[in-house]
Parts: sequence; C-alpha cells; structure tokens
Amino acid sequence: MFYGAVPTACIEQVFRILDFSAWKAAYVCCSGSFRIERALKAKFPQLPVFGNDVSLYSSAVGYLACHREFNLRFEGALSFIEERPDVNSFFERVAALLVACDMARYGGRKNDYARKHFDYYVENFELFFNRAKDRLDRTIPEMPLDGYFCGDWRKHVKQAIESGAGILAFPPFFKGDYESQFKFIEDNIHWPAPDYDLYNPKMLGDIIDEVDASGAPYCILSDQLFEHRKPVLEYVTGRKVPHYCYARTDKSSVRHLYKAPEPFAYDPIDPAKLTAESKVQVVQAESRHMDFIKDIYLQKTIIHTTGVANFLIFIDKMLVGGIIYSLPKFPTFGHSTIYLLSDVTLCREAKLSKFIAYLATSNSLLDIVSKKLISRIDFVVTTARTHNAVSMKYRGIYELLNRREADDPAEGNIINYGSKMRAETPQEIYSHWYWPKYGKSYVQKRNA
Ligand SMILES: C[S@@+](CC[C@H](N)C(=O)[O-])C[C@H]1O[C@@H](n2cnc3c(N)ncnc32)[C@H](O)[C@@H]1O
Repeated sequence: MFYGAVPTACIEQVFRILDFSAWKAAYVCCSGSFRIERALKAKFPQLPVFGNDVSLYSSAVGYLACHREFNLRFEGALSFIEERPDVNSFFERVAALLVACDMARYGGRKNDYARKHFDYYVENFELFFNRAKDRLDRTIPEMPLDGYFCGDWRKHVKQAIESGAGILAFPPFFKGDYESQFKFIEDNIHWPAPDYDLYNPKMLGDIIDEVDASGAPYCILSDQLFEHRKPVLEYVTGRKVPHYCYARTDKSSVRHLYKAPEPFAYDPIDPAKLTAESKVQVVQAESRHMDFIKDIYLQKTIIHTTGVANFLIFIDKMLVGGIIYSLPKFPTFGHSTIYLLSDVTLCREAKLSKFIAYLATSNSLLDIVSKKLISRIDFVVTTARTHNAVSMKYRGIYELLNRREADDPAEGNIINYGSKMRAETPQEIYSHWYWPKYGKSYVQKRNA
C-alpha cells in the first residue's frame, strides 16, 4: 500500500554490515510502512525502537503500535465513514484510514473510471474494513514500538543524538512527493497534523555531516552520491534507482542485484506425456535463471526486474514455466498482497499457462514469500494486457478487480486480477484440478 518502501534485500544487506546489538536504542526516521522497524524487532527483539513520520497513515499506525491515540475525523468525500456505527475506537478509525488510503487513488480524480471505483469501495466498505482490521491485528504485534514521534525527521535525529541512540533514516528521494501522494487523505480527514518545513533532498549532505560529527551510530539510505563521503553499501536492482547507505561502520557491501541471465540445461514440457500420476516440483530460483527463461519465451526487449521470490515449475522433471513475485503496486485492494509480476509458460498448449497462474496462489509458494518478507501474505494481484474484455488465462481462477483502457487504445485493456491464497499444494492443484479439467482431455485428444 506504499510507494518508496525500502527493499527487503537492501534491509538484509544493511543488517549484514551494521551491528545493531551494540546500539542502545534505534530511532527510525521516515518510517513509512515500518519495514525497518519490523525487521529490527524480528532480529533484535530487545532493542528499543522509536518510529517517526509526518504522514497520517504512518502516524496512525505508529500510535497504535505504542498504545497511544489522537483524534481522527473523516470529512468531505469520506464523511460516510464518520456516520458508520462500527467506526468508533482508535483501532477502528485506523483500520478505516487504511481503506481510505486505498480509496485515495480514485478519490482525487474526477473521471468515470475513478468515480466507479471509489463508489465500489463505498458500497463494499464493510468488507475492506474487516480485512483492514485483520491486517492490523496481524501486523501491529510484529512491531511493538517503544515510541513514535509525529513530526519532522530532523527533530527525531536530534532527539536520538541527545539520548545516545542510533539513527536509521530513509528520507524521501524527491521534494514534496509524499505530500502530493497523501493530498486526498489530508483534504478529507481531520487530525492534529504536525507543522514542519518541507524536506528537500538537497539538504541531505549537510544532515549526514551533522549526524556523523555527533558521534552517534547511524545508517542513512539515499539515492545520492556525495563528493566527500563514500557510501558503505550500494544496492542496485536492474535499472532502478540505486540505494546507497551512509553509516559509521568498518564493513562495506556492494550489491548489484542485476546479474546477466544465466543459461541452464532443462527438458521443456511435452504436455502429451502428462499422466494422472505426474509429479509436480516447485523449485526456488535465482533471478538470473528466470531472466534466461524469459529471454527465450517472452519478448526480448523486456527489461528484467528482480522479484522478491522466483520459482521454476517442473512436471515429471520437464520444465513448465516460472513464477516471479514482486512487492505490490498501490493499491493493495485491502489485503496483505503480493504482486505476481510474471507467470511465464514454455508451452501455449494444454492450458498450462492457467495451471501456472493457479499455482501462483498456492500457500506452499506464498508461505515462502511471507517468510522472506517477514510479513504474512494472503492475496495475489496481477495485471493482464489484452484486446479482449477478459483474460482467458485468469478467467475463472482469479477475480477481476478492475479494468481500464490503456492510454494508447491500440494496446487494448489493462486488467487487474486478484485471488485469495489457496490452501492447496502444487501437487493437489495438478491432481485435483488441472489433470481432470484440462490435462486428461488434452492427452486423450493428442493420442486419439
Ligand atoms: C522513502 S519513505 C520511507 C519508507 C520506509 N522506510 C519503508 O520502508 O516503508 C519516506 C517517508 O518519509 C516521510 N516523510 C516525508 N517528509 C518527512 C519529514 N520531513 N519528516 C519525517 N518523515 C517524512 C513520508 O511520509 C514517507 O512515509
């Protein structure tokens, strides 16, 4: 539900070179979706952690996580929430705010498409509200904060230095970016918003100099390079904006996550050889292996994006295809969502692409993704581009979430599909669903 979250792999890299167990406390600046806090609490449960942000979204969640509250009133386009009898306590108000943040994508726009989607959220508010409450029930216990400061991160830095704590900051890369992202929310929800001077990334060099001179331990992530200061860590994925880490540490780490596609030997699937007893195998894969497969079976011009988890799917040791998950794009449709970035199939026959798309919802795969992200996933969202009204691949197995015409009408429709996680193993999906529904009749026809 959030733009600009620090990549999990980057957090892992930071954890390898910084010894947080030596810190007295951690003051996290610009908490956003509290990824850093959650990772810190998972690895160093004893370390006192203090969050900070200026946004209503983070401040509401941050207050909830340290058992505090403030007044929050829904107004204007969101006043219907205020009238609901089930939105009373601070917890309920924060849950309603999470739904409102998803609605914000449509609330600020005046076209028919946006209006319809906004109305859909209003009509089905209870469903999204209940999901948001479940999500808070799951995530808040993972981030027991020792304090939260709703205000400018430069003040939080000062408080950290004064109390002898360490500083972890991931300030915005662009001036005013978050303020414009949260405009709809700020316009339609009344809350005691903090006063602060807009942060300009041009100030960062001086801020790091000050923090460094204070002697406090620190770790500041940025996309900027400075002439007089060397980053201790560099994190780059494909052609995305790099993340540099400035810190007080002797260790250093440079990680370019883009690796050239790496060929490997495999037997491609021959669907005519499938049987009712065929064995399905799912193997975690490196992104360079996925890129190799995508280079052969998808358009050559595709720029590879590294996923958070990749899987190769084999049936009877023949390679059927692959699945790549990435962090969800905004919005998350009110769930704990993972984005299915790619579900490539080696063979267009026998509805194998449907099999791979179905498999991407299996809890066997999503449990692995949840562990990697240190966050419980229960929903998969993906996007189909098609000239038809629906995508045949996802029809019947995913729910159509929304559809719009591409900006260039020649490109057809862009359709978002979603599915709940299924408590079915890949083998069960094959034996109980794919084989009786598609595989058997295909093999019978081929052998007739
Ligand atoms: C790059 S995000 C941080 C993401 C977060 N670390 C995560 O992984 O989810 C930047 C955050 O900075 C917050 N922010 C922007 N200006 C701020 C300021 N002056 N003081 C504190 N937080 C600020 C934004 O609201 C946003 O949540």
